[in-house]
Amino acid sequence: MAKRSLWGSKAGFLLAAIGSAVGLGNIWRFGYMAYENGGGAFLVPYAVALVLAGIPLMIVEYVLGHREKASPPLAFARIDRRWETIGWWMPVVAFFGITLFYAAVIGWCMNYFVFSFTQAWGADTGAFFIQEFLQRSEGPFQLGGIRWPILAGTVLTWVISWAICYREINHGIEKASMIFMPLLVVLTLILVGWSLRLEGAWEAIKTHYLSADWVKINPLTLAGSKVWVAAFGQIFFTLSLGFGIMITYASYLPKKTDIVGNALITSVLNCLYSFITGFAVFGTIGFMALSKGVPFDEAITAGAGLAFVVYPEAINQLPSGQTIFGLLFFLMLIMAGLSSAISLVEAFCCSLIDKFSFSRKKTVSVVCLIGCLGSVIFTTRAGAHILDIVDHFVNNYGLVTGGIVECLLVGWVLKASMARKHVDQAGGVKLHKVWEVLIKFITPAILIVVIGFALCSEFSENYEGFSTRALLFVGVGWLLAALVISLLLMRFPWKESKLARDHEPEEDHLLV
Ligand code: PHE
Repeated sequence: MAKRSLWGSKAGFLLAAIGSAVGLGNIWRFGYMAYENGGGAFLVPYAVALVLAGIPLMIVEYVLGHREKASPPLAFARIDRRWETIGWWMPVVAFFGITLFYAAVIGWCMNYFVFSFTQAWGADTGAFFIQEFLQRSEGPFQLGGIRWPILAGTVLTWVISWAICYREINHGIEKASMIFMPLLVVLTLILVGWSLRLEGAWEAIKTHYLSADWVKINPLTLAGSKVWVAAFGQIFFTLSLGFGIMITYASYLPKKTDIVGNALITSVLNCLYSFITGFAVFGTIGFMALSKGVPFDEAITAGAGLAFVVYPEAINQLPSGQTIFGLLFFLMLIMAGLSSAISLVEAFCCSLIDKFSFSRKKTVSVVCLIGCLGSVIFTTRAGAHILDIVDHFVNNYGLVTGGIVECLLVGWVLKASMARKHVDQAGGVKLHKVWEVLIKFITPAILIVVIGFALCSEFSENYEGFSTRALLFVGVGWLLAALVISLLLMRFPWKESKLARDHEPEEDHLLV
């Protein structure tokens, strides 16, 4: 049996894991969530979520991948054959539910990178984005044909992802992360520095980002408890948990590894990145609001609106350096997006390779081709609607379900004490016993509450005003399709030798 590749260095592994975690969400979601949910006060639920759910679950994923040296389906099957379907569900949902549209969004960023040369978005950036660029149709069922420039960017994203994942982990993803991540940090720091010098930036940061509105986070009120739930949801998404990505990445770690230390570094640096990027977001919007004479509350928005409407508008207002600012911003998004996209591709490919013993080159080529074809739906005129619905369902249900199952599997089936012993044997920082209590009881309980809240708001009003038919067909349908694919994949038999643990010869080296 072919020997499993290993990361070439500890830094390579960490950069890849942080690269997966740091994505578009850090740039266009975190700041807005903080703003909406109490400004500086939001950092409290956010930090609590990080400690109670984020870091413990990151350790769970690292333990699963490292102990079993396997992708999610194989890791789950080795612990208990009956759990394999869920092991498939995670990478399948991640691949079909996120990668397909993530590639299209990176395609949007690529187009806007080119637009930056001439500020092609013109004066009315909102109308340009919706009507000229997306040419958004009336609803998710009016496909309205392909938008060719978006398709071009999407195909390019797939080609880059293919070229990276095609090579073994230590040559492909590791080398790419070594380039992407330092570049991302430099771009971010330049943009933060630049934004802080703009007129009105500090004022906006002080009054809207850092000032704390403690009433908003009072968990005893309904609104306050929603803030806490939102913080837990965001921690999950931002750390790329619940999709089996960190399981896959940890499966390429050598026997002696500091699991706890790595989990702490990955989680904390990811959140720090979000916090720092918030300064650029608030500074730039503050400047734009001041120069256009509009109130800050009207100027700020989240998600695609922030990147493709508000930022171009702010760039229009800059006294100088408009082109450079635009290029830096969209390149930053592209880098952040690509380093997450490759992790999604890898998790799915690695699962297939583990089960069927296909060659990496063939698997990655076929998977990227299928992925690219699947992405086409998101390049149609209805793409933005479909994306919105799929994103909502996958994030609110797909990912959190994955998280709950992981906790139960490691906490109860494998046994938390066994898992903790494994961490200690692997070396590095020792794991405190509290972790056992967290993953057996507290983290899954919190995640169940998160799902409960999401379900309640689902039934109280239709998400974003979409029709029930659209939500059921596209959103629920997508999750069910993933489940069917997982059940099918699970039915193929394993080679018995694969299910046996510790069968591979291992070079026992320490990563430095
Ligand atoms: N963590 C990424 C972000 O914050 C998103 C992501 C989620 C990427 C899940 C991969 C898997 O944008």
